[in-house]
Amino acid sequence: MALKFITADEAAALVKDGDNIGFSGFTPAGCPKVVPGAIAKRAEEEHAAGRPFKVGMFTGASTGDRLDGALARAGAVKFRTPYQSNKDMRNGINAGEHPYFDMHLSMLAQELRYGFLGKIDVAIVEAADVTEDGEIVPTSGVGILPTICRLADKIIVELNDKHPKEIRGIHDIAEPLDPPHRRDMPVYSPSDRVGQPFVKVDPAKIVGVVRTSEPNDEGAFAPLDDVTKAIGDNVAKFLVSEMEAGRLPKEFLPLQSGVGNVANAVLGALCDNKQIPAFEVYTEVIQDAVIELMKKGRVKFASGCSLSVTRPVIQEIYGNLDFFKDKLLLRPQEYSNNPEIVRRLGVITINTALEADIFGNINSTHVNGTRMMNGLGGSGDFARNGYLSIFTTPSTAKDGKISAFVPMVSHLDHSEHSVKIIITEYGIADLRSKSPRQRAEEIIEKCVHPDYKQLLRDYLNLGVKGQTPQCLDACFAFHQEIAASGDMRNVDWSKYKKN
Ligand code: COA
Repeated sequence: MALKFITADEAAALVKDGDNIGFSGFTPAGCPKVVPGAIAKRAEEEHAAGRPFKVGMFTGASTGDRLDGALARAGAVKFRTPYQSNKDMRNGINAGEHPYFDMHLSMLAQELRYGFLGKIDVAIVEAADVTEDGEIVPTSGVGILPTICRLADKIIVELNDKHPKEIRGIHDIAEPLDPPHRRDMPVYSPSDRVGQPFVKVDPAKIVGVVRTSEPNDEGAFAPLDDVTKAIGDNVAKFLVSEMEAGRLPKEFLPLQSGVGNVANAVLGALCDNKQIPAFEVYTEVIQDAVIELMKKGRVKFASGCSLSVTRPVIQEIYGNLDFFKDKLLLRPQEYSNNPEIVRRLGVITINTALEADIFGNINSTHVNGTRMMNGLGGSGDFARNGYLSIFTTPSTAKDGKISAFVPMVSHLDHSEHSVKIIITEYGIADLRSKSPRQRAEEIIEKCVHPDYKQLLRDYLNLGVKGQTPQCLDACFAFHQEIAASGDMRNVDWSKYKKN
């Protein structure tokens, strides 16, 4: 069946008010670049004419400004899930303008299939190649692409020539059956392939192909500072000590490392520490540091859901496909983040906390318990199922006015049961086989910033009895202090003392 080439505006005209749209990609990598902007323009025109126009948005994870930003600014968001990190989308969510719900990323595709989240009307997907018989080769990010293509009534393809057709073969595309027919996902090592190198769709559903030549939006990494470098060094130190203690196999285990600067710093530190053998990566987001380590022979193989790398790095990969193609594999997030596989492979998981409490609970998402930052992402998929789940965080934020460690987290994403190790620039808290009080002592002594150590020791000694000495009157005093004086260091416990 011949492909029909159309413009972005023609594609946008195929979308109706109220439609639910599934977008390909994961981070800006693999997301459509031009049709979302045309939909946003259409929404603005409809609004100007006094007509409603909003769409439901399912994405793999965060996207780019040309997708999330454009639709948010146009006031065109009926709902949004799962992870997002765009300033305008975030502000609209926190202003109550864009209804948003957060989800574990591994669960999105199956919940779409189960019918929990409503219908998908249109899939808008970026491709490096598309054939007349319905083979779609994704670009540098996969996300939920196979599932949205199968469930949607219509598929719009953005054929982006910034991604060479020769990347065919880098992807491994599969979709599991649903219960009660689900079988195991036979990934026994990060490089195992279980699917096909393309997504096969019914070609009759491809209502249009829009040609583009658009690079991914990219966020540059901040240069390493003393804090992120110290956190990275502490992670490397911890993993070496685990190997020396015989708690990690000598061949090491696959690593997952979260998003952002700290994650990049951690990988850099692992590269420099020669006591750690060359290792494999089983993660969702493959960042620049993984590629750097690959070139140095320190990373043998990386499986992920997206190549969220800077432009020079993606060009380097595409220019050297002979070297990279057999060392990189991109899967749908249902596989890259799957708890079954993560637990089977024994993945060492390293994620970043926004806030932790002294008993080991983690808040990854909400500033002061109310304001959404980005979302849970894959942190829960990995942390709950990892061989060793590590959380890292700088000990303070906002010039020391906020302690990353509080008596009780203001929002809970990962409970104390999913967290084994917490690492800051000051040290390593090993929470394994410790009671809540012992965990609190370990965290305060090893991880907390010196300005907050005594305050948190005093909290533990307010005189509350019980398995977890949480003082319910005082547990949010740090957060209340931020609202009152703007500095958590001003907390005064005297009014809460129990004996
Ligand atoms: N209270 C208020 N603000 C805080 C804070 C706290 N406890 N801790 C950090 N912040 C602020 C920082 O000051 C910074 O603000 P700015 O953007 O105005 O400078 C911002 O939050 C980001 O903090 P930063 O230290 O730069 O962290 P990061 O870029 O490493 O991101 C998370 C940290 C937690 C936001 C990020 O890792 C995330 O979204 N995690 C959840 C998803 C996830 O883990 N995915 C990986 C799975 S594979």
